Parts: sequence; structure tokens; C-alpha cells
Amino acid sequence: MMLEELRELKEKALQELEGVSNSKELESWHIKYLGKKGRLTVLMRGIGRLPPQERPAAGRLGNEVKAALESAYEAKGEALKREELERTLREERVDVTLPGRPVALGRLHLSTQVLREIYRIFAEMGFQIFEAPEVETDLYNFELLNMPPHHPARDMWDTFYINEQVLLRSHTSPGQIRVMRKYCPEPIRVILPGKCYRYEQVTARSEFMFHQVEGLAVGRRVTMADLKGVLIEFCRQMFGAERKVRFRCSYFPFTEPSVEVDIDCIICGGKGCRVCKHTGWLQILGAGMVHPQVLANGGYDPTVFSGFAFGMGVERPAMLKYRIDDIRYFFSNDLRFLEQF
Ligand code: PHE
Repeated sequence: MMLEELRELKEKALQELEGVSNSKELESWHIKYLGKKGRLTVLMRGIGRLPPQERPAAGRLGNEVKAALESAYEAKGEALKREELERTLREERVDVTLPGRPVALGRLHLSTQVLREIYRIFAEMGFQIFEAPEVETDLYNFELLNMPPHHPARDMWDTFYINEQVLLRSHTSPGQIRVMRKYCPEPIRVILPGKCYRYEQVTARSEFMFHQVEGLAVGRRVTMADLKGVLIEFCRQMFGAERKVRFRCSYFPFTEPSVEVDIDCIICGGKGCRVCKHTGWLQILGAGMVHPQVLANGGYDPTVFSGFAFGMGVERPAMLKYRIDDIRYFFSNDLRFLEQF
């Protein structure tokens, strides 16, 4: 009787175990058959009440059934775990071979890149960087540079005035006075980079804001030969070792003598093309020996000290170097342009 019941129980339990499909059901199954009040446990407790001669056989079978169910339970547990793992792997599959989402990398603005190239070249020649204010006074932008009020040379720069005395600097030259006043009577060898502003019609060739780099050297024996040497070296490093450099007489109120510096056209090599307006030359710099009055305004005795100065644009030469035909691209924030550099 007991043996029969044990066999049936085993049969039933194993059959039920087959239908178990998750770990929760598995636990309920375990409690139902093997728990403290489980069916097998209860049934086996009955063995003690059997007539003594039946007990050994019933006990043996009971233990066998128990062991069989326990091991079936273990095996089922393992199988479920494997199934669950397989399911998660299937459901949460990640294709690790997919290319990642690209992270957009920022970059330096073309003007910054060109400025840094200019810094590098002048740094090699011993020039330090000095920064001067963008908002200037009439005094520094004009008067101390030898242009008193109403001087006609002021017309060379169309200026944004904030009020009678305050303006947006129209060139980096006012920085010359600021460096001289700061370092007098020490010798000076600096470049002054920065933004300049001009009240101009914005066209493909001119913006109302652009960058310039000013240069200034002051010392006891600074000559025009130094100016030429520095600028020729700069032009060749910046625009190619084969460049020809031409110094042309010019006029600036704050330098005497004054020159403009041309390089042979980097597009046509001097043969003549649209970019150089068929002259074969490109103007890239204004320069000269610092005017004695300007040296004096900076605090230097012009009978003892001399100096040279130069000023160049940044965007115009960049346009030549990278064949950009419209200056407005620089500051209109169009990524399609900016991302090319
Ligand atoms: N400041 C002049 C300009 O903007 C350039 C210049 C600088 C000329 C220094 C001579 C010396 O045109």
C-alpha cells in the first residue's frame, strides 16, 4: 500500500515538474512535495506507523523517491537557469560589431589656427605675445600714433565710435603705445594679436571685425635691416620657402619710413591671375620704422632708441593660403565651412 503510494507520488511529482517553467513555480513545487509539510514528507512520516516488517522496504523506497525528487529538482533548477540566461541573451542582444555613435569633436577656428601658426614663427625669433584692449580710446588709437584730431590720415580707418573718446580699435597699433609705456626703458620684442573693428560695408573682401597681428621691436640699434630680415623670414615660413618678398614705399603716420610688404602671388607664382589682379604680387603687411614722436609717446628717447613695427591681417592671408573666396565665411558660424579646417 505504502509502496504503491510512494511510487505514485514520485510519478505525479515528476510529471508536474515537467510542466514547471520558471523558478517561482519550481519553488512552489519543492514546497508542495519536499517541504516540511510537503506530500512526500508527510507520507514518509507514516512509515513509522507501519507494521515493523514493512518498514525497511518502505523506508528504502521513501529515501530513493526523496533522492530522485531532490535530484530532479536540482536538474530542473539548472535547466531553468540556463533557459533564463539564454532568453536574456536573446532578448537583450547587443550587436557589438555595430559601429559606435560618432562623438562630434570640436576644433579650433581657422583664424585661431592661423594665429597660432603666426605665434609659432615669431616665437622662434624671440617675440613674446602681448595683449591689448579691443575697446580703446581715441588717444591710443590715433593721437599717440601721431594723428591729432582732424588729421586726414584718420580716414585710413573707418572707425566705430562709442562716444567722443571711446572706440573699438580700428587696428592693433594702439597696443604699441601700451607695451612701450609698460616696459620702458627695457628693449621690446613683441607681437600683439587681436580683433579689430571697422565701420565698413561687409563684402566678400571686407568684414567689420577681423584679426590683426601687430609686431614691435624697440632697442638701441634696431634698423630697417632687422625689419626686413624678420619679415622675409616670416613670409617664407608662412607662405613657402620659395617666396619672393617685396618692400614698397608707403605711408603710415606712426612709422617713418613706411613700407608695404608684398609676396609673389601664391596662386600663380607671380605670372598674374585674378587673385593678384594680374600684378603678380599680394600685399600682406604694413610696416616701418617707429616714428620718433611715437617712440617718445611710449616713453623712449628717440635719440637713443629706435624700433620697427608691422601690422598684418589674419583672415586675408588665410584666404590666400586656403583659397577661400569670401571673408564672410569666417564669422558666419556655418559648420559646413568651419569643419573643413
Ligand atoms: N596699423 C596699420 C594698419 O592697420 C598697419 C601697420 C602697423 C603699419 C604697424 C605700420 C606699422 O593698416
